[in-house]
Amino acid sequence: MVVCSCNAIRERDVREAARSGVDCPLQAYASLGRRPRCGQCIPFARALIAEERSAAA
Ligand code: FES
Repeated sequence: MVVCSCNAIRERDVREAARSGVDCPLQAYASLGRRPRCGQCIPFARALIAEERSAAA
C-alpha cells in the first residue's frame, strides 16, 4: 500500500525505516531520500512508525 502518493513511498518503506531507528515521518522520508510535499500522509506515516517502534520495544 502507498503511504505517500507525492513521493511514492510504500508502507513497507516506512516500516523498514522505523525499524532501522527513525522516529518521525520527516526522518523516515529523509532516509529514503525524499521530503514531504503536501503533508497529507504525515499522520498515517507517524502512526505506522509508532506501531513499529512499540512492536520493537
Ligand atoms: S502524500 Fe506524502 S507529501 Fe503528499
